[in-house]
Amino acid sequence: MKILVTGGLGFIGSHTVVELQNKGFEVVIIDDLSNSSEKVLDGIVAITGTKPTFEKFDLKEKSKVQDFFKRHSNIAGVIHFAASKAVGESVEKPLLYYENNIGTLVYLLQELSAMQKANFIFSSSCTVYGQADIMPITENAPVKEAESPYGNTKQMGEEIIRDTCKVVPALNAIALRYFNPMGAHPSAEIGELPIGVPQNLVPFITQAGVGLREQLSVFGGDYPTPDGTCIRDYIHVVDLAKAHVVALERLIGGNNSANYEVFNVGTGTGSSVLEAIKSFERVSGKKLNYKIVDRRPGDITTAYADTTKANTVLGWKAESTLDEAMKSAWDWEQKIRN
Ligand code: UD1
Repeated sequence: MKILVTGGLGFIGSHTVVELQNKGFEVVIIDDLSNSSEKVLDGIVAITGTKPTFEKFDLKEKSKVQDFFKRHSNIAGVIHFAASKAVGESVEKPLLYYENNIGTLVYLLQELSAMQKANFIFSSSCTVYGQADIMPITENAPVKEAESPYGNTKQMGEEIIRDTCKVVPALNAIALRYFNPMGAHPSAEIGELPIGVPQNLVPFITQAGVGLREQLSVFGGDYPTPDGTCIRDYIHVVDLAKAHVVALERLIGGNNSANYEVFNVGTGTGSSVLEAIKSFERVSGKKLNYKIVDRRPGDITTAYADTTKANTVLGWKAESTLDEAMKSAWDWEQKIRN
């Protein structure tokens, strides 16, 4: 079965391509390489022994999207990762984010709506919950006003898919709300490749570990949490990738209970920034140079998932511990720096 993975050379996309190939799916990747590299294909081949088909173009080019579906009329499912994801940049350039993340989604859905049966998995985010009132966060927690245009593109994306599913019964979609993805494939053949100074915690930690960054700033030590630092649900990217395959199989098998469904994808365990640092120190045997500084604007205090729905309905559960995920991130960082 042929699966289209947009953004398939990115961080989560590439790990999902590997898991799809492991399950025997044929993968076609569309990626514009705006935040990835063609070299990722070599990493995928090193792991699976199979080179996915790769087409380099920007999904904003509507005629190319139309042409793609004309040439590939037998797509059994689409997993849509391609999107811009820098929160700060989205505040500076909102229209770029709406064009990149919403425009491309609409073009894809227009093509899928014309198909006899279409299966679609969307990359959403726990950011849609904002600071939820109750922990752990269930899928029924209210969606709060987005803190950034990036976050808004995830909320709007979900609404656009939901509205389309209402009028296109042949379209089946699942939105996966990721908590905090981290880590790398255990082979260290693929992993996260942030451009410039990492904005996310884990790549900053591992870059500090290899000496690329002098000091980690811990954003805020006065939050109302046990150690004063923010709490997140860090999920190993391989576990997250497997959730996509399970969700896709649910749609392909016709086992979904509605043609639009939403699932949290996390571990169910919250870890503080200081706990993440300790985990790094344990798995690397290195001391990390860090300093508690002011809070980062826009950060919420605590977010971790209630994963009951994914566990019971999807039959998926995160397997890796924080230390295992951290070790994989560290192995990858060391490999790319050597
Ligand atoms: C952010 C986005 C989220 C997005 C995710 C992608 C916001 C509000 N949320 O999540 O929508 O899906 O990235 O991975 O921007 N931290 C430090 N020092 C650092 C970097 C981070 O202390 O140098 C802290 C942060 O304050 C936070 C935690 O580490 O408490 C995790 O931060 P980060 O990795 O940036 O993820 P989120 O902000 O949770």
